[in-house]
Amino acid sequence: MFNDAGLVLSPDALDFLKTRPDPVGLAQQAIELSKGKDLFVMEKSFIEEILKEDEDRKIPVPVEVKRAIDYNPASKDAVPHIRFYDENDVSGQSKCSGTIQDFVGYFRDRVARTRKILEARSNSKGIVTTKALKSFTRGRDMCLVGIVNSKRTTRKGDLLVELEDEEGVAKVWIGKGRNQQEKRIFQKAQNLLNDEVLAVEGKWSDPFVITTDLVWPDVPIRNPKEVDKDLSIAFVSDIHIGSKLFMEDEFNRFIQWINGNTGSEREKELAGKVKYILMAGDVVDGIGIYPSQENELSIKDIYEQYARLAKHVLNIPEYIEVIIAPGNHDAVRRAEPQPRLPEELVEQLNGISNIHLVGNPSFFEIEGLKTYMYHGTSLDSVIAALPGMGYSNPEKPMLELLRRRNFSPIYGGNPIVPEHRDYMVMEHVPDILHMGHVHKNGYDQYHGTLIINSGTWQAQTDFQVKQGHVPSPCLLPIYNMRRRDVSVINFGKELISEEKPEVNNS
Ligand SMILES: [Fe+2]
Ligand SMILES: [Fe+2]
Repeated sequence: MFNDAGLVLSPDALDFLKTRPDPVGLAQQAIELSKGKDLFVMEKSFIEEILKEDEDRKIPVPVEVKRAIDYNPASKDAVPHIRFYDENDVSGQSKCSGTIQDFVGYFRDRVARTRKILEARSNSKGIVTTKALKSFTRGRDMCLVGIVNSKRTTRKGDLLVELEDEEGVAKVWIGKGRNQQEKRIFQKAQNLLNDEVLAVEGKWSDPFVITTDLVWPDVPIRNPKEVDKDLSIAFVSDIHIGSKLFMEDEFNRFIQWINGNTGSEREKELAGKVKYILMAGDVVDGIGIYPSQENELSIKDIYEQYARLAKHVLNIPEYIEVIIAPGNHDAVRRAEPQPRLPEELVEQLNGISNIHLVGNPSFFEIEGLKTYMYHGTSLDSVIAALPGMGYSNPEKPMLELLRRRNFSPIYGGNPIVPEHRDYMVMEHVPDILHMGHVHKNGYDQYHGTLIINSGTWQAQTDFQVKQGHVPSPCLLPIYNMRRRDVSVINFGKELISEEKPEVNNS
């Protein structure tokens, strides 16, 4: 073929062509493009250049956004009220050097902070330490708070748990169910996770604590908090900018909508009430996150990925407050807690007053609503460890994290930095708990806490096809703070449409 065209194919070009999925098609394209170029030898570099240009053409670009002149959003003149709790954010405060002492300190802090939460619960009074047990008389009622070191089933089918506090280890015995009460506790114990902290109520029977109840920190039952402002929060996560599967046309549609340029009157009205946009991580696809990722990337340079993010974010109206956290695909340290995106990555966003970069997890108040935002990397380990969990209902594992008041109860389930304090403990009772990571939307209303997983803007990946996981891209949940309800805008269709999600009331 090359001979016919008066060309000599260099050996490395031949080898390179053999590695391509359509070598003949690419060869024809190369011959076509070489015409009129006075070429005698077809080099590998010439073919590579063709592929690069093809690749560049494939990258969609953010559309030009101009706000409609007749668009008068309700949120434009509203004064924003956000308060960031820096002490709950590791950004700029990482003190870990990775010594054994760091690990000891980290777990002690986890036990101490969780104990405080448990002490506030009325039914966990009279907490004692493991050291005190030895002096107890047989049959005495007591309550221990500790970390689950291990759990194993005995030959008779009962459960033996090793519970550790600052002073020692206790052997906790949970009968397999010889009466109704035992059955109930045994059932509860199926949800015990390694390394989590909880309270065990029981009777002392040297050398065991015979369990009468298991108590997780949980959150108290309240009514959803009222906010007397007709404003909304929009929830975004897992945009994965830079991935070939990032649904940029749909994301552009969202940006147009938030500028009042598209949608019906009703949808424009919804857009006009959005005062806050939260982004819970994986804002870009990153590089080197998994093997051969470079084949899946439309933007292969990390700075360019963030530059593209910045372009989109700067197209969001300046009267909307945007809070951005990283996830496991972002270019900060992989282990959690993760600090906020560094300034040099998002230069274009530095100094913009409505853009706020936070760590993962982070805690802040919006119009008085206590909000935790966490990417959700640990959801993988919780889904794997607990019965009845799956990727199609992310609100369920999210609820399990809320009940444990810890974003990462299983140590080692995902990388954790043993900081001097456990930033993964949810010290505050949140009104809103926002996560992403599983690429599937989910909602729940639990004891007055709104649980939201905001899905993704990335189409189904090969990995997800293999796992049988069907993501729910381009669904934007919005929470109206006055009406206290969630709407979902579907940008995945030609016509933007509003949907009412099923919000469980658990
Ligand atoms: Fe993601
Ligand atoms: Fe993720």
